[in-house]
Amino acid sequence: MSELKPRKDLLDIESLSLEEIEYVLENAVPFKQLFQRSVKKVPTLRGKTVLNLFYEPSTRTSSSFEVAANRMSADVTNFTVSASSIVKGESLLDTIETLQAMRSDYIVIRHKAAGVPGIVAQHTRASVLNAGDGYHAHPTQALLDAMTFREVYPDFAGRKVAIVGDILHSRVARSTSTLFHKLGIEVGVLGPGSLIPEGRHDFMTRFRTWDEVFDWGPDAVYLLRVQMERQEGQFFPSIAEYHKMYGMNSDRLVRMRELGAYLMHPGPVNRGVEVTDEAMGYEKSLISTQVENGIAVRMAVLHWLKPETQKD
Ligand code: NCD
Repeated sequence: MSELKPRKDLLDIESLSLEEIEYVLENAVPFKQLFQRSVKKVPTLRGKTVLNLFYEPSTRTSSSFEVAANRMSADVTNFTVSASSIVKGESLLDTIETLQAMRSDYIVIRHKAAGVPGIVAQHTRASVLNAGDGYHAHPTQALLDAMTFREVYPDFAGRKVAIVGDILHSRVARSTSTLFHKLGIEVGVLGPGSLIPEGRHDFMTRFRTWDEVFDWGPDAVYLLRVQMERQEGQFFPSIAEYHKMYGMNSDRLVRMRELGAYLMHPGPVNRGVEVTDEAMGYEKSLISTQVENGIAVRMAVLHWLKPETQKD
C-alpha cells in the first residue's frame, strides 16, 4: 500500500478516501491479534497524552477509547462534564485554550452539538477524534462496524445490511451507512416514517415492513436504539407499538435464521424496545465482536493520525 498523506483529525466518514479506510481497517487486524496475548500493550504512543473529553454521557465509547489509548502506552486523562468547568459556563473556546495549554497530543471528543469536534480541531495542534457529535457523525463506530462485517463476510462487496430504527437522530446510522456504501455494501432502512430522514441518502433502499426487509434478503440487520434524549416531540405512538412494529422478536428471529443473517447493534441496547431478551442471545449476534473491534479500530486510528505537536 502506498504511503498515505498524513492526517491530523478524524471528524467524519465522508472525507475519508477508500485508501485511508483500507489502511485503518487493515491496521486494526494486528492490534486485535494482540488481545489474545497475555500482555496486550504496545509501546507505540509512549510519552504521548490522550485527553478524553465527553460532554455527553458515555460508558461504552469513552472506555473503549481509554482502553485503546492504554494499550498503546499513552497517558490518558478523562475529562467528564460534571467534574469540569464546562458546567460552570466556560465557553468552548476558553476550554480549547486550556486544553491547548495542556499540550495533549490527542483529544477524543463527544458533544451534543454537531460540528464541535471540527471547531476544536481548527483551534488545536492536537489530533482530534470525533467520538460522536449530535446527529452528525461517529466515524470510529462506522469503522468498527465495517471491520466486524468484513470479518464475517470477507466477500463484503454487494452484500446487504438493513438498518432498523431511529435513523433520523442517529449519527451511527449516518456514518455507518456512508461507510458501508463507500465499501460497496448495499444499505436498506426500516423505521417509523417520522424517524426516516427524507432524501438524506439516496443510496439507501427504504422499507416499510419487516417482510419487505426479509424479502430483500439482508446479510445483516443493524438495530438502533430509539434516541429518546434527542427527540423533541412524539415520533411514534408508544414504546409498545414501536416494539411490535420494529423490534427484533422471536418471529423475526425465525426469518433471521432462515436467511443466516447476522445481528448488529452499536449499544447501548434497550431491551424490550428494539430487541427482546431472546434476540440478545441470538447465535449470530455480533454485538460483543463490535465492542472488541472498537478497541482495535481506535488503536489503529490513534496510530494513523499525526498531531502537529509531534513537530516539536
Ligand atoms: C451510539 C451513540 O452514542 O451515538 N452509541 C455508542 O457510541 N456506543 C448509539 C446510541 O447512543 O444509541
